[in-house]
Amino acid sequence: MEDKIKQIKEEFKEKIKNKSLKELKELETYFLGRKGKVSVLFQLFKTVPKERRKHFGAKINELKNFIEKNISAEIKRVESIEASRKLEDEKIDVTLPGIKLHTGGLHILSQTISHAEDIFLSMGFDVMVGPEIEEDYYNFEALNIPEFHPARAMQDTFYLSKKILLRTQTSPIQVRIMEKYKPPIRIIAMGRCYRKDAPDSSHFPVFHQIEGLVIDKKVTFANLKGTLSLFAKRMFGEAVKVRFTPSYFPFVEPGAETSISCVICGGKGCSVCKNTGWLEMGGSGMVHPNVLKNVGIDPEIYQGFAFGWGIERIAMVKHKIPDIRMFYQNDLRFLKQFRG
Ligand code: DAH
Repeated sequence: MEDKIKQIKEEFKEKIKNKSLKELKELETYFLGRKGKVSVLFQLFKTVPKERRKHFGAKINELKNFIEKNISAEIKRVESIEASRKLEDEKIDVTLPGIKLHTGGLHILSQTISHAEDIFLSMGFDVMVGPEIEEDYYNFEALNIPEFHPARAMQDTFYLSKKILLRTQTSPIQVRIMEKYKPPIRIIAMGRCYRKDAPDSSHFPVFHQIEGLVIDKKVTFANLKGTLSLFAKRMFGEAVKVRFTPSYFPFVEPGAETSISCVICGGKGCSVCKNTGWLEMGGSGMVHPNVLKNVGIDPEIYQGFAFGWGIERIAMVKHKIPDIRMFYQNDLRFLKQFRG
């Protein structure tokens, strides 16, 4: 018995050296577990003669305490070493370059739309929307463009059925708004329009317009000029002038083509403005009495003005973008320049 106790103690001293945490836990079971070395000793103890029991009892307990004390001390020691190694491994070197995050951004057309919205909101306009799939009635008929009117040919579009089409302009929204709300009306509406145009540097089958409509009792052409001039100055800069030249749109009378002084050459003449000093932005005019009658507004009491400018055109002029197709090619080298 004496030897056995000694032998176990020696074995323990030997085995505890250089052990990992996991191995130490296994060692603990190996010596102190229910079927462990020390438990076996207690079994043997039963065979010891009575007079020697006290002596061996004390010895075995001493061994048990020795193993318990040492193994738990060793476990603690190894645990703290492993914890500090883990900390060391997980240390972050803040001087290393970070992982680059790829952030998206608003498309330049969306940015232009927001900018235009902000300008008109600050002038007291409300922002409205209308459907892209439109009825022939709103897109043409109610705008004083009856069937077989030549103005339809200029805006040839995609028909979904005889009476349903992809809108060619945002002007139908004027009619929808006037049907729904009573004057005074002061709104803008923006969105996609569609025409069967072959793509070139200034045409694309999909494009955007901004439409404006003001209806009240004393609205004059001077209000139209003032509103568009202020918009142009806010959008393109204080030096910009707006020019109105007589033009024909069936839903206004008088109608005017609106241009701004060339932002590239300041009006002196350059290749962008084709030496005219002016850049065409869209149409405008005083709402035609027939259009007012179509929506039940009395043209003897109310008048109004309307305008429709191209959003791509605004963005192209503002950012010197030479080709409308660039907006739709999704070339990141182009788009990233406008990420703000
Ligand atoms: N909708 C016209 C077009 O696409 C532009 C336009 C002209 C809009 C005169 C208007 C306007 O509101 O009054 O060619």
